[in-house]
Amino acid sequence: MSAMTKGISPFYPGQPVPVDFFVGRQKEIEKIARAVRQVELGKPQAIFLTGEYGIGKSSLSGFMRFYSEKENHLFGIHVFLGGATTIEDIAIKTVEAVLKSPAYEPTVMEKVRNAFSKYIGKQELFGVQLNLDAIKADSPNISHGYIPFLRQLLERIKDEGIKGLMLIFDEVNGITSNPKFAHFIKGLVDENALSANPLPLMLILSGVEERRREMILHHQPVERIFDIVEINPMNEVEMKAFFNKAFQSQNILVNDDAMSLLCHYSAGFPKIMHIVGDATFWADQDGVIDKDDALKGIFLAAEDIGRKFVDQQVLKALRSKDYHSIMEKMGKLPFDLSFKKTDLEKGLSESEKKKCNNFLQRMKKLRVLSSGDVQGEYIFNSRLVRLYILLNAINIHS
Ligand SMILES: Nc1ncnc2c1ncn2[C@@H]1O[C@H](COP(=O)(O)OP(=O)(O)O)[C@@H](O)[C@H]1O
Ligand SMILES: [Mg+2]
Repeated sequence: MSAMTKGISPFYPGQPVPVDFFVGRQKEIEKIARAVRQVELGKPQAIFLTGEYGIGKSSLSGFMRFYSEKENHLFGIHVFLGGATTIEDIAIKTVEAVLKSPAYEPTVMEKVRNAFSKYIGKQELFGVQLNLDAIKADSPNISHGYIPFLRQLLERIKDEGIKGLMLIFDEVNGITSNPKFAHFIKGLVDENALSANPLPLMLILSGVEERRREMILHHQPVERIFDIVEINPMNEVEMKAFFNKAFQSQNILVNDDAMSLLCHYSAGFPKIMHIVGDATFWADQDGVIDKDDALKGIFLAAEDIGRKFVDQQVLKALRSKDYHSIMEKMGKLPFDLSFKKTDLEKGLSESEKKKCNNFLQRMKKLRVLSSGDVQGEYIFNSRLVRLYILLNAINIHS
């Protein structure tokens, strides 16, 4: 199978995964599904979905939106708040999300579009053109009457059998620094809970744990609003299911030893799985992923990830003469992901030791390394970045 005859790559680095290629997360799904069922019965719920960058928060949110529409008749609104800084921005992005992220059921979407026709500009052949001026003009009102706004939306689609709403606030990174956001969320939940007739609302916030902490700093009671669902790295079974499903969709087989390599270097990180999978997909020539294909893919992915994740600064540092012996030492240490600073320092000169400290701090800041449980222990966050750094250390030499 040459590149010319290949089908489309079943990998989606940098995008929430389509429902068809979503794998695993059974425990997390069950936990959210239980809350969704409560909402279907009329009881509002709020969940904070946490986990580090690239672990699969947006993908799981997207999947739950699909799931709860199918199983529990909730209408889902997936709002990406990246770039939003004010509550009015939230209102604007909510309207956009309602109109741009269509319900899976077309008749529901038709009703939604009718209800919100004033926010739609010219109807285009493909999708809708939004009337941004109209949305902006209404955004102060919507932000002050957010629950009534949602209620009005639900009223319009009730006839279609819709029982409640799922509102996902995703990518909350920027907005949480605005203290008003914490108050807005708390107000939303309280207002709804205290209403004579609460809106069946499944509220999901998705972000790293630091963002939840930040909200609590701004408004302490936020701590009590949410059930927390934490997403962790995938296990071997989930990773295998993913690679098999993705490759099988293009009639490609994966050998056992190749599979072990793909899983080993992905180390449970969905984001890495997609990058490694994609590179391997293009490396393969004959429809069977063997060890060579997997290694080729892994090296390409290491390059790619290194370039994207390891800041230019570190790259320069790695290539500079100063860090030469530190890197060389690191390359020779027999470790997988975690090492002790004292082991790294053995045999380094005093001035190199000082630079070593600096180097480790820099790597931590860039999230390449994190501190281990034991004092003086460091852990590589990604096996591929570790590989990349080793490859670079070798390159310095040659
Ligand atoms: N359950 C899953 N199955 C398959 N791929 C996934 C899954 N979860 C995440 N991914 C993939 O991993 C990458 C990161 O996922 P994403 O949902 O964007 O993470 P986050 O929102 O936590 O940063 C994306 O390429 C996505 O397609
Ligand atoms: Mg995301």
